[in-house]
Amino acid sequence: MNNVNIKIALDFLLENNKIGKSDAIEIISFITKIEYSEVLFSQEKVLNKNQFKKIIKISKKLAKGKPLAYILGYKIFRNHKILVNKNTLIPRMETELIVDYVNEFINSQNEKISVLDLCCGSGCIGISIAIENKERIEKVTFSDISKKALNITSKNIENNNLVNCTKVVKSDFLNSIIKQQNKFNILVCNPPYIDLNDIDVDKMTKKYEPKLALFAKDNGLFFYKEAIKNIDKFMDITKNILIVFEIGWKQEKELDVFLKQELGLKYKWKFEKDYFNNLRYLILTK
Ligand SMILES: C[S@@+](CC[C@H](N)C(=O)[O-])C[C@H]1O[C@@H](n2cnc3c(N)ncnc32)[C@H](O)[C@@H]1O
Repeated sequence: MNNVNIKIALDFLLENNKIGKSDAIEIISFITKIEYSEVLFSQEKVLNKNQFKKIIKISKKLAKGKPLAYILGYKIFRNHKILVNKNTLIPRMETELIVDYVNEFINSQNEKISVLDLCCGSGCIGISIAIENKERIEKVTFSDISKKALNITSKNIENNNLVNCTKVVKSDFLNSIIKQQNKFNILVCNPPYIDLNDIDVDKMTKKYEPKLALFAKDNGLFFYKEAIKNIDKFMDITKNILIVFEIGWKQEKELDVFLKQELGLKYKWKFEKDYFNNLRYLILTK
């Protein structure tokens, strides 16, 4: 096919794949190296043969169900480019809201803040916090059990010039973190939370994304309970603290019962909704 311009390529992608316009623009931007925001203003620009071949190749992979982020090797998260690969979960839109809660808390504090991003995967949450609060952050510590995921976290740290205000720790959940005796003002954590027996998991998620990132024991509640039981051991409870967990949309009731039993009146907590009106965040303060 000769003289394929960007408009034709966009139409081709949208007609042949179940993707939205923003993803189609992202693909064109990736192939042509034209800024995302400039793509729609460059629709008459003719692609060379090689560029259109690459678009067809991407389209074929998408048709097989491979997620776009794994094809491109990155996902845009709160406007930040976050590298991903098959060892990391693809950052989700709803996870972006965690950073809003954190930013609000940081803005209300006078001292520099130490943050722990537990089960960090690509590091999307902690990277965003570090970029968006550069002046007010003491350190962001990233932790995950997967060395391969942490390699990607480290690349994201380097790409965003955050080496000086970050630390990466391989840890089976809180084990090494507690041993290192560091205490944090903020915990953000989007742990695996799908029940091992859940049969409703999206087929493509199950096929392409790391199992380690998805499933947890105890009806999916294992990691929340472990963190809550150990708050005093890794959070700096002499000061204000903030804990934000992403949770599954059916986990609020069971978690609330557990929190009442475990914490009583010692801490305050609330559940907040995502863009789709589901209770998806557990927010805990002193
Ligand atoms: C749901 S993903 C979240 C990744 C990232 N925080 C995000 O929001 O996109 C959960 C992460 O927990 C990690 N993980 C699983 N079991 C773990 C464990 N026992 N200790 C620490 N991390 C664990 C996985 O490797 C995965 O990166």
